[in-house]
Amino acid sequence: MDMIMSRVDPAFRNDVLRCFEQEVYAIPARWLYDRAGSELFEQITDLPEYYPTRTETGLLESYSGEVAEMAGSGRAVIEFGSGSSTKTPHLLRAVNPAAYVPIDISGDFLADSAAQLQEQFSNLPIYPLEADFMRRLNLPDQVSDMPKLGFFPGSTIGNMIARTSVDLLRFMRETLGEGAQLLIGFDRIKDPDVLIAAYDDSAGVTAEFSLNLLHRINRELGGEIAVDKFRHIAEWNDIYARIEIYLEAQADLDFSIDGSVFSMVRGQRIHIENSHKYGLRDARLMLRAGGWSPVQEWSDEKDYFSLILVEAHPFKDAP
Ligand code: AVJ
Repeated sequence: MDMIMSRVDPAFRNDVLRCFEQEVYAIPARWLYDRAGSELFEQITDLPEYYPTRTETGLLESYSGEVAEMAGSGRAVIEFGSGSSTKTPHLLRAVNPAAYVPIDISGDFLADSAAQLQEQFSNLPIYPLEADFMRRLNLPDQVSDMPKLGFFPGSTIGNMIARTSVDLLRFMRETLGEGAQLLIGFDRIKDPDVLIAAYDDSAGVTAEFSLNLLHRINRELGGEIAVDKFRHIAEWNDIYARIEIYLEAQADLDFSIDGSVFSMVRGQRIHIENSHKYGLRDARLMLRAGGWSPVQEWSDEKDYFSLILVEAHPFKDAP
């Protein structure tokens, strides 16, 4: 018990208690990714309805060579939120980097995947960095003099609201420096039925992924939430161009978390995730707001997903 309790991130407790105490009924999406959640997300990436992972992997297989031509060889590849680094080999093989720095907040994952990559790329210097990439970072000294190529795949940026995305892009520019390039994945706006299916799959894996957040609250915060009284909901918000994910109470409920009692009424929702989708112009504008100029774009034939290569040009005064 002590062991488990001592591992609870105080920020998780704060965010969850704030959700119910202040009646905001929203919990940041980052808490979906405990071990169980990360495993469920891996399962999501294999679902027939979940097109992003396989589409982006296809783009990397087809176009990593072109990325390499534009970036030139000898850069240090810096991956933000590397997780299991499954898409990285395609890129590394093509760009022949001088070093690879995977950055992830979860140290276990990071060490495992770095070791696995080291086997495939025996001559590549790998410097894993356990850090929260949502703020400015100090890269390892070994790469400080190398030109950089940032890599931010998966449309992870889609989880963030616009203001946070722009903050992150600016941090990345500070971290990577002027002259750096960044290869970033964006999920595109498309038929809402296709989007809804991707976030509410027929096998119910995405529902399980969402509901795991309540299990996590029960496991880590001594919660007594009746998880089976909640339903996963995925809705398309056309104004914000995003999928919104909610957990909806199916009955009037009372439950305790960490000794405090809360109640929700039937039909009431907790907002747990956004997944923003982008037109190419939306993506370009956001990138420019973060200090990044367009270099090249690659999309699949259905325009379901895009990889965009951008560069940190020196800032110029208007016009
Ligand atoms: C990891 C943020 C890219 O938004 O598609 C998938 C997360 N949530 N299904 C996405 C997610 C439910 C995913 N990202």
